[in-house]
Amino acid sequence: MAIQWYPGHMAKAKRQMIEKIKLIDVVIELVDARIPLSSRNPLIDEIAANKPRLLILNKADMADHNLTDDWIHYFKEKGYSAHAVNAQSGKGTASIPDWVHDLTAAKREKLESKGFRARADRALIIGIPNVGKSTLINRLAKRKIAKIGDRPGVTKGQQWIKVGKTMELLDTPGILWPKFEDPEVGLKLAATGAIKDELIDFQDIAVYLLKVLMAKYPNALKDRYGLTDIPQVDGEPTNEEIVELFDAIGKKRGCVIGGGNIDYDRTSELLIREFRTQKIGQITLETPEETR
Ligand code: G4P
Repeated sequence: MAIQWYPGHMAKAKRQMIEKIKLIDVVIELVDARIPLSSRNPLIDEIAANKPRLLILNKADMADHNLTDDWIHYFKEKGYSAHAVNAQSGKGTASIPDWVHDLTAAKREKLESKGFRARADRALIIGIPNVGKSTLINRLAKRKIAKIGDRPGVTKGQQWIKVGKTMELLDTPGILWPKFEDPEVGLKLAATGAIKDELIDFQDIAVYLLKVLMAKYPNALKDRYGLTDIPQVDGEPTNEEIVELFDAIGKKRGCVIGGGNIDYDRTSELLIREFRTQKIGQITLETPEETR
């Protein structure tokens, strides 16, 4: 789980990552398909600048399929090799060695033209906490690799794991900290569970989620909570509209305290939990359109 990052942690993580990157041919950058931009730390562009990069949108099972396709298109237009997978079930992951191999083709050809035989492609998985790095390593290794803490400094001997015929993967991932100077990015990271729950205000997150759901997934909300009416929102919903919706959901789910008042803490927790477990549906919180 996410820890709080201090400047010392960050400096150490960066140093360790730079050392690891020297050993590899391809960086596998893992992001959360529900927030493909907000779950990146742009520092990776600096750290991995001179290496080919495979961008993997993980947790595709939790995200909105149409938007995942849009995101893949968006990243491909930017020149990335981008693909969606589900590390938990393994869907899509068997192709990772081939995608990596494609990225080393030019280097391999150059070596071979000089009469050298290229060795296996060496890869490293990098991402912020909770994006599924350990799950993917275990999946590719076909066994459980001990998880190191999300704490730079907690290291152990690193080993190469053979994956398929062409790839070797470092068994410890590169861990970047989540970057959330922009408050909305912070809300998205918190909603998806990338920031420790103790550090977040559940009501803030629930209000944020409701705003997104009202605007982008009103039918999913209606279906999940048996609501007949969702206020039609043009742009940002007003506070009154949000409170109205909160009340309706709280009432439907029996989140009430004395005097029939809504228990906003419980309603918030319920909403966040149901978002995180796809009870409301497959939801993506940001779109490529919003970046234009
Ligand atoms: P990390 O190393 O990057 O920190 O992430 P980790 O692999 O620990 O994964 C974080 C959580 O995300 C885990 O759930 C893991 O099972 C889940 N996860 C990883 N990849 C996927 C995916 O593609 N789809 C889905 N639905 N979930 C995924 P957890 O609840 O923290 O642990 P557990 O229930 O697996 O024990």
